[in-house]
Parts: sequence; structure tokens; C-alpha cells
Amino acid sequence: MVSDIIEKALNEQIRIEAESSQIYLAMASWAENQGFEGVASFMYAHSDEERMHMLKLVKFVNERGGHAQVSALVKPPVSFGSFKEMFQTLFDHEVMVSQKINDLVGITLDQRDYATHNFLQWYVAEQIEEEALARNILDKINLIGDDKGGLYLFDNDVKLLVGAVEAPQ
Ligand code: FEO
Repeated sequence: MVSDIIEKALNEQIRIEAESSQIYLAMASWAENQGFEGVASFMYAHSDEERMHMLKLVKFVNERGGHAQVSALVKPPVSFGSFKEMFQTLFDHEVMVSQKINDLVGITLDQRDYATHNFLQWYVAEQIEEEALARNILDKINLIGDDKGGLYLFDNDVKLLVGAVEAPQ
């Protein structure tokens, strides 16, 4: 059984994962509109993955006797400046999510809720991977700068990373 404090904290994380999914969906649409298919597929897959992160939490909260809530979400931006800015936004967002997961883990320890603590270890590991992937892409895009040919090759390259963000079941 989850306590009210844990339930509230997990519901807040459900909202964060749902918002992440929406932000990456907006990024996918923006990239697709500009003809960058690779970046768009990467972002669509990333958006799906965030939805999976959200669903996993929803199911856990309900299984543990709580009530998972579906919250109103903040509308994401329509455009993202440049690819460099967009991937910087993605990286910063993932760092924020990692911080939220860390805070959540801290709350489970305060509350001596070891079942939720154990459940959250999957998210801790996932955030390490997500941050590393985002940093890797950011390094690449920093090398390219605004070079059009470089961006074309980058788009093809990112397509190959889609498997890396596909949602495990
Ligand atoms: Fe679900 Fe990218 O954090």
C-alpha cells in the first residue's frame, strides 16, 4: 500500500513523464515539418518511450492501492529554434527529470517505502542512459554547427539511434 505522500509524489512524476512525452512529440512534429525524417523518427520514438514511463508509474500506483491521476499538461512550444537548441532543451529536460527521480527516491527512503524505492531503481538506470544518449547527440551537433550538409548526415545518423530509444516492454 502506498502512503498519501508517496502517492502524491508518484502522481507528480506521472505528470512529468506525460509532459515529457508531449514535449518530444512537439519536437518530432517540428522536425518532420522541416523534412528531417531521422530526427523526427527519433523524437516520435522518444515520445512513445516517455508515455511508457508514464504508464509504468500509473500501473504501479494502482497496483499498490493508490489512485493514479491524469493531470492537465502544459502546452509545449511549437518550434525549437535550431536543432542545436532543440537537443540542448532535450538534454536540460532529461537532467531535470533525473533530479525529480532522485527527489522521489529520497522521499521513499524518508518514508521507509522500500517497495517503491525498489521500483524506482529502473528509472534511475533509465535516466543514466537517457542523459548519456542526449549528451552524445549534443556533442555531435556541436561539431556540425550550422553546416547544412552536416545536418543532412546528422539526420541520417540519428535515424540509426531510433532503436536505442524504443520502448522496452
Ligand atoms: Fe522519462 Fe526521459 O524521462
